[in-house]
Amino acid sequence: MAVLVTGGTGFIGSHTCVELLANGEEVVIMDNLCNSKAEVVDRIEKLSGKKVKLYEADCLDYEATEKIFNENQIDSVIHFAGLKAVGESVQKPLEYYHNNMTGTFVLCDVMRKHGCKNIVFSSSATVYGDPAFVPITEECPKGQITNPYGQTKGMIEQILTDLNVSDPEWNVVLLRYFNPIGAHPSGILGENPNGIPNNLVPYIAKVATGELEALGVFGNDYPTHDGTGVRDYIHVVDLAKGHVCAIRKVRENPGVVVYNLGTGNGYSVLDVLHAYEKACGKTIPYVIKPRRAGDIAACYADPTKAYKELGWKAEYGIDEMCRDSWNYMVKETTKA
Ligand code: NAD
Ligand code: UFG
Repeated sequence: MAVLVTGGTGFIGSHTCVELLANGEEVVIMDNLCNSKAEVVDRIEKLSGKKVKLYEADCLDYEATEKIFNENQIDSVIHFAGLKAVGESVQKPLEYYHNNMTGTFVLCDVMRKHGCKNIVFSSSATVYGDPAFVPITEECPKGQITNPYGQTKGMIEQILTDLNVSDPEWNVVLLRYFNPIGAHPSGILGENPNGIPNNLVPYIAKVATGELEALGVFGNDYPTHDGTGVRDYIHVVDLAKGHVCAIRKVRENPGVVVYNLGTGNGYSVLDVLHAYEKACGKTIPYVIKPRRAGDIAACYADPTKAYKELGWKAEYGIDEMCRDSWNYMVKETTKA
């Protein structure tokens, strides 16, 4: 039996494939490569010493999706495939809703037809909006979501829940990620977006390499220890390991279950900047800018439920996250 990993050549998907393979799972990847490259599969194979099948296919394409199910014995799916840039989703709502929603509809329709009713879904802490309390437990009510990207996460959570109501054979693990950063310690897999990054650590990384001049810190007047926004950064390898536990869980017929995947620690923008300075041995220039629209002061997880029910907890700290991000950046930029 194999696990189908949609979006498996992406940032989190690729690290997850490595961890699944290390745990004896057979992996099939489906990705349309709109935000990743086929060569990632070679890297996954190099790290794992195992073969992985890549289907270059779009989740919106019914026939292509069905072909994957016809050609493989798939018992569970991890659904990473989706567009994820918050700002871009505000500019292109139709594209975001179409890709993320329709992709999920087609995928689930094909899964149902083939009797595969186990799905692990990449959701996000964004569904909590400005959280009612921190640290955030899974009982925290969902909040006001301020962008189409986040809306797709909230709606897909609901749709997968409705599927289980209609047919209890569906098992759904909703994973709410906090802020994944870092890279594989080998420096072979990581995140290096083209152009100007939206997210904090990829931006800092490009200041560290000299590609960008200075980090803009979006606000220093939040009610946090140094006035800058606080988030729960999680090493992508820890996050990937969480998916191995989630796949085991989904096979135990749990119905619908929700888990926060975070460390439980909140770090401010300046904390992260200083940790990165330590990792790269350089001073990273920054300027204070106005607050970014839609941002909140603080968001960090209470990951107790994942520990109790999945036996999972994050192992890496902020210094290791920055070390591995920098290691990857050095390898990538010296290769180019
Ligand atoms: P990513 O862009 O690196 O990976 C997503 C992959 O999906 C890409 O390889 C892309 O080519 C593929 N894809 C997109 N649309 C597709 C489609 N219609 N058919 C087939 N493939 C398609 O992003 P990531 O950071 O690895 O995120 C993975 C998932 O986790 C996404 O669903 C994202 O929304 C979610 N998530 C990410 C974060 C984060 O901060 N990175 C936080 C919370 C949730
Ligand atoms: N920040 C800056 N300067 C930058 C970029 C970010 O100061 O150039 C600050 C933000 O204001 C925020 C913190 O750094 O305080 C983190 O910002 P990110 O953009 O890296 O991450 P967000 O917490 O805003 O959002 C991320 C993902 C979302 C996901 C959310 C919760 O981008 O997709 O985490 O999981 F929904």
